[in-house]
Amino acid sequence: SESERDPPRKIHNSCVENKAKYLKTSSQEYEYKFPYFRQPREIGSFSKDSERKFHHDRSQLKFYAPPRDLQRCNFDLRHGYSKMIFKDRNIKEHLDNLLRWIMHNRKSFYVNQAATNACDVSQNLEAKHSRFNSLNTDFFCWRGLLTHLACLPYENRDDLLVAVIKFRGSYYMCEFETEAKKIERETETPRQREMSAWGFKFEQYVTSDKPQGVPDISHPVNTNEEFGSVARSRLGSHSLVYGAEVDCVDPTSPDVNKYVELKTSRIIQAQRQYENFCKFKLIKWWAQSFLIGISRVVCGFRDDNGVVHKLQDYPVLDMPSVAQSCLHSPWKPAVCFNFLDSFLNFVKSVVTEDNPRCVHLFQWQPHRNVVHERRGEDPEFLFLPDWFINWEAW
Ligand code: A3P
Ligand code: MG
Ligand code: MG
Repeated sequence: SESERDPPRKIHNSCVENKAKYLKTSSQEYEYKFPYFRQPREIGSFSKDSERKFHHDRSQLKFYAPPRDLQRCNFDLRHGYSKMIFKDRNIKEHLDNLLRWIMHNRKSFYVNQAATNACDVSQNLEAKHSRFNSLNTDFFCWRGLLTHLACLPYENRDDLLVAVIKFRGSYYMCEFETEAKKIERETETPRQREMSAWGFKFEQYVTSDKPQGVPDISHPVNTNEEFGSVARSRLGSHSLVYGAEVDCVDPTSPDVNKYVELKTSRIIQAQRQYENFCKFKLIKWWAQSFLIGISRVVCGFRDDNGVVHKLQDYPVLDMPSVAQSCLHSPWKPAVCFNFLDSFLNFVKSVVTEDNPRCVHLFQWQPHRNVVHERRGEDPEFLFLPDWFINWEAW
């Protein structure tokens, strides 16, 4: 196919000639020095309640409440499964909650404000910028998309579909479900569905609603509830604002970033299992947490019956060396972030028309290039809602 031929002209591993617009994804292309990445800073947060309603507050934040003995516990993740309430996966929220957060926080985007740490905006600045044309930020998206992109040079199973819209100088990037993932979701077995709920039950076993509180596993888990953190950072020449679902905070942590990411994983009994864990899981855990500056992942190791027997702490900064000491050809953080930087360069080079009704698609399948396609006014992918496009503050 067109996308697999050698590009006639090379620009940062990508080709933007008329016919073929694509970006290489093999890890060897990106083996150079780690790019500039500014320490992500939290600029705000929001909550989604049990009915999936948006609240501009921290009401859904949970507090880490580990058991006394991390080495010996007995958490039955199937407990109360029949009463669990699932978020409706057929409702696609796109970037809506992030856009709502932006509209509650226009002060965060005034010139200078975007670049500094200042929290209190002077009255003067506010008066001068009561309306504005631009959010002074290159990219808006969910952290989950950045995680997928960063891991893409090492991904060999899941495909990816990203829609991008350029609007008022910013690029809005939204992941869409691919056909393959849709089929996977629709053909999920009851066992798979139950297992994908175990992670949420684990969160309930090790968190509480208040600091120093006790976990309450009696009320049904409701996956509509969510705490979201919004971060600002810079990668190479790109300024980024992204939202991320955060599991809990540990107020007693000595780290600057006190959030803790919770995971579950099957108990590891063989070398082969350990290699797969290092190769496929640690990279995703690392990218997901590193992107928002989380320093610690706590994993509950479970058996096949969904019982967690022990907890283990994984410092995020140690993960690359853990993978390195286990694998013959380990994943490299520099490759992940160089690819992410190149993807953002690629987006800027091919998405030029500033128009909220013009969408561009970026599609990828394992062992292929990322292929760009201008879709124009395709209602399936036009994800910016009118209430955001017609915001009176613009
Ligand atoms: P685990 O993390 O224990 O796998 P997160 O870890 O990102 O906070 O996500 C919480 C839980 O949501 C996961 O627990 C898992 O149960 C579920 N989950 C996350 N991503 C998923 C996906 N792509 N498919 C199915 N379940 C997913
Ligand atoms: Mg989570
Ligand atoms: Mg988690």
